[in-house]
Amino acid sequence: MSNMILVVDDDKLVNEFVNETLTRAGFKVHSALSGAEALKLMQENEYDLILTDVRMPEMDGITLLMKIKAVSPDSVVVVITAYGTIENAVDAMRKGAYDYILKPFSPDEIEIVVRRGLEHRALAMENKVLRAQIRDKYSFENIVGQNRKLLDIFDLIQTAANSKATILLTGESGTGKELVAKAIHYNSPRKDMPFIRINCAALPENLIESELFGHEKGAFTGAIKQTKGRFELADGGSLLLDEVSEMDLGLQAKLLRVLQESEFERVGSGLPVKVDVRLIATSNRNLMDEVRKGKFREDLYYRLNVINIEIPPLRERKDDLPLLIEHFIQKFNEEDERHIEGLSEKALRLLQSYPWPGNVRELENLIHRAVVTSKNSVITHMDFPSYLALGPNAEMSDMLSEPITISEGEKILILKSLERHAGNRTKAAEELGITTRTLRNKLHEYGMTDN
Ligand SMILES: Nc1ncnc2c1ncn2[C@@H]1O[C@H](COP(=O)(O)OP(=O)(O)OP(=O)(O)O)[C@@H](O)[C@H]1O
Ligand SMILES: [Mg+2]
Repeated sequence: MSNMILVVDDDKLVNEFVNETLTRAGFKVHSALSGAEALKLMQENEYDLILTDVRMPEMDGITLLMKIKAVSPDSVVVVITAYGTIENAVDAMRKGAYDYILKPFSPDEIEIVVRRGLEHRALAMENKVLRAQIRDKYSFENIVGQNRKLLDIFDLIQTAANSKATILLTGESGTGKELVAKAIHYNSPRKDMPFIRINCAALPENLIESELFGHEKGAFTGAIKQTKGRFELADGGSLLLDEVSEMDLGLQAKLLRVLQESEFERVGSGLPVKVDVRLIATSNRNLMDEVRKGKFREDLYYRLNVINIEIPPLRERKDDLPLLIEHFIQKFNEEDERHIEGLSEKALRLLQSYPWPGNVRELENLIHRAVVTSKNSVITHMDFPSYLALGPNAEMSDMLSEPITISEGEKILILKSLERHAGNRTKAAEELGITTRTLRNKLHEYGMTDN
């Protein structure tokens, strides 16, 4: 269907000239010789773009523009004004015109401005649809997505929320495990009780036990008073054990006991404490592999893995990219008081060809940066770091043909290696000749993960 355009000008010759030019360019064009006639036509037809002269007897173009914007704020209006009256154009832009054309103009000029206006409208409409979808359908407790697997996860969250069964959330870093854990808690009968989180990877081994179970005064140097652990703080609510695979075997035994008997002792105390806690554990390693390697207790694995929710990496659900991008643009527009309207086609293609080793978190960071630094109202491919463009098939020599810094080069090597091993960090680190911890730190440094 071709786009409908309305031309408003009291000067018959100019009106016809514009009408013919645009008709020849393939648009469906209507003409009005006054503002009143234009408004009447607008009641009968839906126009994608309205071109109006500014100086007209009776109703001038600026008044018409304001009337149009009052009833349909999304309409794209372009004003035509005589050379030397640029202040009219500025005034019109302030009042919501999309663009202006100065008389005299050539057919090419009209066509270019009209096409640009229509593109802008298409993008705005698309964003509007996405926004509505995010609000109504494809979002559950801030988890955005419409990919089949993600919709299944939404269902699973609702079922799991109603039971007290322990849940094991697996998925690469940045896929949204914490988000899902929160959704489970806040949809469960425990929602008014505490949601407590502990990251097993972030704490030194000797501290985890007292963090989990609390301690008595004097239990160890520095224990100056009795302190409750996370299990007690979470009583009646839910406890998120992040990166449970990082716990040592001794602590795993203690955890198993809590799960079996719902009781434990504070460090330095012989008295059992009883709690009612719903446990949610996460891991970005394959726990069964850890069991095989003897690093994770098999009995604990089965205790935790009553309900397993596996969140797919972003590269396996790229159909969610447009929704996620729009979601983050909105989020950062609000937070940073920006007015970004969307993403150019080329930028979207760039993001679609990238393998996303840092998953949704990496996407969120990149969009944040682009929203803050973009000089236009539309984010373009130029607003993203250059290493994104080195698609899966780029040769090393292509990559190095442009001047880059050492750290950019490092980023490329890491990305290529992760890509070859489908995001498996252990294998990538091995190949790169660094430890997984170093790799983790580097990914963190580049904003691809936050732990
Ligand atoms: N589907 C989604 N919709 C909207 N935001 C998302 C989605 N998935 C992840 N995010 C956002 O991405 C970021 C990372 O998510 P989250 O912290 O839940 O990941 P994670 O799997 O726990 O990562 P890690 O293993 O590194 O701890 C968060 O800011 C989160 O809000
Ligand atoms: Mg997490």
